[in-house]
Amino acid sequence: MTTPAKADSVSRYLYLFTVFFLVLSGFGQMPIFKRYYIADIPGLGWLAKFYITHYIHYLGAILLLGVCAYYITDYFMFNFKNKKLTFSGYFKTAVIAGLTVSGFLLIIKNFADYHLPGGLIIFLDLCHLILVMLLLGFGLYSLIAKKRWTVNRQDKIKNDSQNNG
Ligand code: HEM
Repeated sequence: MTTPAKADSVSRYLYLFTVFFLVLSGFGQMPIFKRYYIADIPGLGWLAKFYITHYIHYLGAILLLGVCAYYITDYFMFNFKNKKLTFSGYFKTAVIAGLTVSGFLLIIKNFADYHLPGGLIIFLDLCHLILVMLLLGFGLYSLIAKKRWTVNRQDKIKNDSQNNG
């Protein structure tokens, strides 16, 4: 049994919607939208309000974890036998895992009772930002080069045997 096509496209749009709002709210926390007058555009004033972008970022993180849980369950329950992760699938999975781990540690940094060393906070922040750039950069490359997350095992075996003559 494979994943119904409808569920596939809904989950794909939910993933793109979630990443879009994580990027928007993430950069909203670094108050660049005020500095570059984007928050002055009517209707976008909320982008300069730290706590609004902060809580949208947390909601986005929860949604991202939900979408990831759906994809992991779907892959191992329905697709493991007939689909294989591609290099770009593995790469993006590792980047999202890194964003989640660094994100969780940044959340702990925000707890009143936790005082992480300044150097670690800067390291976590830079990790999070570099991973964001990797996700956006590699996401764009995958879009342009039509790199998929998974490939059918049968197709891969056929291609490999054709390539090996
Ligand atoms: C596609 C995924 C994500 C993107 C694009 C993203 C983007 C960003 C960006 C641009 C920042 C600002 C960094 C800075 O201030 O230097 C940020 C901060 C943060 N992100 Fe994310 N993030 C993502 C996923 C997550 C996840 C999954 C979590 C939690 C599990 C998370 C938690 C945080 C926290 C706590 C902060 C710091 C906010 C503060 O300054 O206190 N992020 N994120």
